[in-house]
Amino acid sequence: MAKYIVQKSGPLVGTVEISGAKNAVLPIMAASLLTDEECEILEVPALRDVDAMCKLLHSIGSKVNEDFDNNRIHIKKGNILFNEAPYELVKRMRASILTMGPLLARTGRARIALPGGCAIGARPIDLHLKGFQALGADIEQGHGYVEAKAKKLTGGSVYLDFPSVGATENIMMAAALAEGHTIIENAAEEPEIVDLANFMNKMGAKVKGAGTDTIRIEGVKELRGTKHSVIPDRIETGTFMVAAAITRGDIILKNVVPDHVRPVVAKLIECGVSVEEIEEGIRVRADLKPLVSTDIKTMPYPGFPTDMQPQFMALLTTVKGPSLVVETVFENRYMHVGELNRMGADIKIEGRTAIIQGERKLQGAQVICTDLRAGAAMVLAGLMAEGITEISEIYHLERGYASFAEKFHLLGANIKKVQD
Ligand code: EPZ
Repeated sequence: MAKYIVQKSGPLVGTVEISGAKNAVLPIMAASLLTDEECEILEVPALRDVDAMCKLLHSIGSKVNEDFDNNRIHIKKGNILFNEAPYELVKRMRASILTMGPLLARTGRARIALPGGCAIGARPIDLHLKGFQALGADIEQGHGYVEAKAKKLTGGSVYLDFPSVGATENIMMAAALAEGHTIIENAAEEPEIVDLANFMNKMGAKVKGAGTDTIRIEGVKELRGTKHSVIPDRIETGTFMVAAAITRGDIILKNVVPDHVRPVVAKLIECGVSVEEIEEGIRVRADLKPLVSTDIKTMPYPGFPTDMQPQFMALLTTVKGPSLVVETVFENRYMHVGELNRMGADIKIEGRTAIIQGERKLQGAQVICTDLRAGAAMVLAGLMAEGITEISEIYHLERGYASFAEKFHLLGANIKKVQD
């Protein structure tokens, strides 16, 4: 098993190029199942999760040509469309559930292994299934699988009890080929939803309102292939902005969409970080004045993203003054707290709230990466800790960050990947 060896690094300085968004490319790859024609996707990040989705599409019958050197994948339909996602593939990547909507729309049936929980929470799929039922599907669960069936999908309306990203995406895709009009209320508004809707509309779908809490879809008979460049990854962007902050460095981030990172920028500015939009992208400086604490509450977009909570918490252990973090999206997204405390942080959990004492002198330690974003937080903490930090189980990290160690190394970070 590989691990990262991270040592105390000076201020990170330089330029980093942000890759395409993991959480946009995965639903877009699933949406390619909605057509028999070829789709070409550009700005694809070279990630384990993308590779896993390629394998899943292969198993369903698509012919996928991965060209990671040029950050592109080419998807052609195979002759047969198998409408199942087997457990051995789903257990590797929860986003496999996103093939359910397209398969149901194309073949009238989808049988997917239940994704089960993960480190950050139970991750139920009840809202996905509620949406499929609103379109006329019958749902059956058993033996660790869930099956949706419908002779014909017809437009309907569904109110999402929580603005679930995955449920919004799955229902949008199923509704694209349903007969009639579908309304999704209390829909998720993330930029990745907008990118998926843009991809689908280029295929000939009729999706309106993506990016707002009400999305309307007019079903069409069939969709055609298209070519699409994926948006930059706003969470990778936020992660490197926090890297500049925690090391008191000066980093220019290229290939970014400033609008997508407004909540993270606002919180960094509250801490005393300088964030400037420049020609090439965004410049983040934390070498100008001492940093101070702020409070964070994670919310669905456009609120502060839950996927940035662990990284920001690492920063808050180093600034002046106590901070409060409230995690409202996932019920168990504090697995990184125990690891940070082992490095000398002083963080207490009260229910969904974490109380973080500032100005801690972190010490290097052997820590584990409990989930994708917690792993990023451990790397950030390791950059500031006295001594050596060994981070194991980094496969979680490599699921969601392309060339992570390399990009940090180019900025002057003392990090290397070794085989255990
Ligand atoms: C997406 O997960 C992202 N993954 C997650 O990113 C991200 O943290 C999350 O959205 C929230 O922004 C991808 O896009 C591949 P949700 P998703 O459905 O769709 C509850 C990362 O680090 N819920 O919006 O699974 C659920 O339990 C990953 O890149 C239901 O109750 O998130 C959770 O509490 C981690 N019933 C909340 O909604 C449902 O049917 C948010 O989940 C679905 C969700």
